[in-house]
Amino acid sequence: MAHTYTTLDATQLDTPTAYRLLVGMVVPRPIAWITTRSRAGVVNAAPFSSYNYVAHSPPMVAINIATRNGELKDTARNIVETGEFVINVATVDTMEAMHGTSAEFPSETSECEALGIELLPGQTVNVPRVALSPIHMECRLERALPLGRGLNTLYLGEVLAFHLSDTVFDGRYVDSVKMQPIARLGGPLYAALGELYNRPQLQQPPK
Ligand SMILES: Cc1cc2nc3c(=O)[nH]c(=O)nc-3n(C[C@H](O)[C@H](O)[C@H](O)COP(=O)(O)O)c2cc1C
Repeated sequence: MAHTYTTLDATQLDTPTAYRLLVGMVVPRPIAWITTRSRAGVVNAAPFSSYNYVAHSPPMVAINIATRNGELKDTARNIVETGEFVINVATVDTMEAMHGTSAEFPSETSECEALGIELLPGQTVNVPRVALSPIHMECRLERALPLGRGLNTLYLGEVLAFHLSDTVFDGRYVDSVKMQPIARLGGPLYAALGELYNRPQLQQPPK
């Protein structure tokens, strides 16, 4: 089928339009359900889908956190102030709680307390992990990179510890199908895994 394209000058788009297009086309996005602790000790949780792993030696992840009304979101402020965060993998089982933590709670209110989210202590960082999530990555801030016109900052984290539930980990592989990850699409939509396609690997995995 031949496509008929709408071509837009991406350099001239207003910010809401650029956002609307990007979140519709860069899909499905994995969700980092991030826990942090404020300097005052309040545990914060919020989801971020502008996220991926970006290095494996050492393991590193990156999350873009936008400002809100010109100010850092609680997650970003806590990461900058403490240098620590935990990524909890979002799954079908954690979706409702994860989504609930995206509401704008005041900084002094813990989403985890307000929503009754059970926590486990961190081991290498002073940030708790979400007990319902089968995988946690304890991270230290490696660097924060301000991007573009000042709305976005990319937070790069080095993973200091992985915690893998034996419901999804056999000692060697993560069973990502069993894990039932949940992904973000544009607008209000989430997606679970759909059809799977199995093809032999045509390249060597990195050493
Ligand atoms: C599924 C999902 C993904 C999100 N991804 C991002 C993101 O990548 N970057 C961002 O700045 N906000 C993102 N948000 C919005 C934040 O979760 C929201 O602003 C939240 O209130 C921030 O909480 P905090 O102030 O406690 O850090 C996302 C929201 C949802 C529901």
